[in-house]
Amino acid sequence: MALDLAGSSSTSKKLGLHRPILNGKVNFPLCLAPMVGLTHVALRELMREYLPADAFTIWPTEMLNSRRIPSENLEKTPETLRHPLETGLVPQILGNEETPILESVQRLTEWGAEAIDINMGCPVQKALKHNYGVALMGDPAYAAEVVRMTARHSTIPVSVKLRAVGSTKEFNELLSFVTGLRNAGASWVCLHPRTAAQKRRGSADWEQIKQLHRSVDFPVIGNGDVQTSEDALLMLSETGCDMAMAGRGLAARPWMLWQLGEDLGFASPVRKTGLKAPRTSEEEGAEYGRCLLRFIELCRQYFGEDLAMRKVRFYVRTTSVWLSFGNALTGVCAKARTTEEMKAGVQKFFEASIEMSPRTELRQ
Ligand SMILES: Cc1cc2nc3c(=O)[nH]c(=O)nc-3n(C[C@H](O)[C@H](O)[C@H](O)COP(=O)(O)O)c2cc1C
Repeated sequence: MALDLAGSSSTSKKLGLHRPILNGKVNFPLCLAPMVGLTHVALRELMREYLPADAFTIWPTEMLNSRRIPSENLEKTPETLRHPLETGLVPQILGNEETPILESVQRLTEWGAEAIDINMGCPVQKALKHNYGVALMGDPAYAAEVVRMTARHSTIPVSVKLRAVGSTKEFNELLSFVTGLRNAGASWVCLHPRTAAQKRRGSADWEQIKQLHRSVDFPVIGNGDVQTSEDALLMLSETGCDMAMAGRGLAARPWMLWQLGEDLGFASPVRKTGLKAPRTSEEEGAEYGRCLLRFIELCRQYFGEDLAMRKVRFYVRTTSVWLSFGNALTGVCAKARTTEEMKAGVQKFFEASIEMSPRTELRQ
């Protein structure tokens, strides 16, 4: 379904953000999702180059184990490296015990967090064994207690990212769970309406985002299967949610921020004044190539040669699924022995016209 955004840009700008996030500081209704191995300083820096100059959004980290944060050097640990000028940082923690949570919240606040997000969606065995991540959704009273203990020790807002409990039929269960989190002090929630069993495959049930937003009076962020700026517009308009959060799709096309900014009447990104966001499959394919070269450089600067290569390979494995000959690009990056070799291989690969398709079936 196409969305008609005809009309003045000032009315379009009002899509999303019906309820204030970070006291109204957030004015752009799309953000990146927390993703282990991907949502790090290099990707955030790459993406900020595409953020409209007048936009403010929130930026997550990958999930951080609250048992480890208290003893870690946050200035040096790859997962918590940050640029000194980064704003809107909302690190995500995984945990369920008061002392590590308290210490983590304090350290992350000093580090520059503007809010703390609690992970209640991680379905991996390790999280289930420790009774955090999505396991918390099986115990509503304890999940609320985790929010309460986090909020009690926090001077900044606390949010929760959660999954669907089941189909729309079990919506009342979800609603009562979320109401418990709100009463315990959550400022907003982000719903990824795929069940734990679905992991990240299959389609996300946006109907649940719509129902949830309609049933509560605080901000709801919707997540799942936003692959293009058009999808982001559809999620915002169809569900009425306050923000759309995109993971794999936004990592693959960071310029989605620029496209959405254009659609909503925001200014151009700082370094793109006078230019138009890429839109066709060929333009997007070429932009992916430029982005990847910049990303390799940023990863090398922040992480050093070896870790940079691992990070880039993982990025390419996750995001090349939208590209024609994406497997071949993965091979190019796997074979390279240095970041310089990687850049040379990537440059050569994009000498051909590579197309980027708008949507693909998400499997990983
Ligand atoms: C590689 C990878 C790592 C992820 N790590 C996290 C995480 O640390 N915390 C979290 O809440 N969700 C995590 N997720 C889930 C995403 O935040 C998001 O909910 C999911 O990918 C659905 O959004 P999408 O369809 O836009 O990708 C991860 C997803 C991927 C692909």
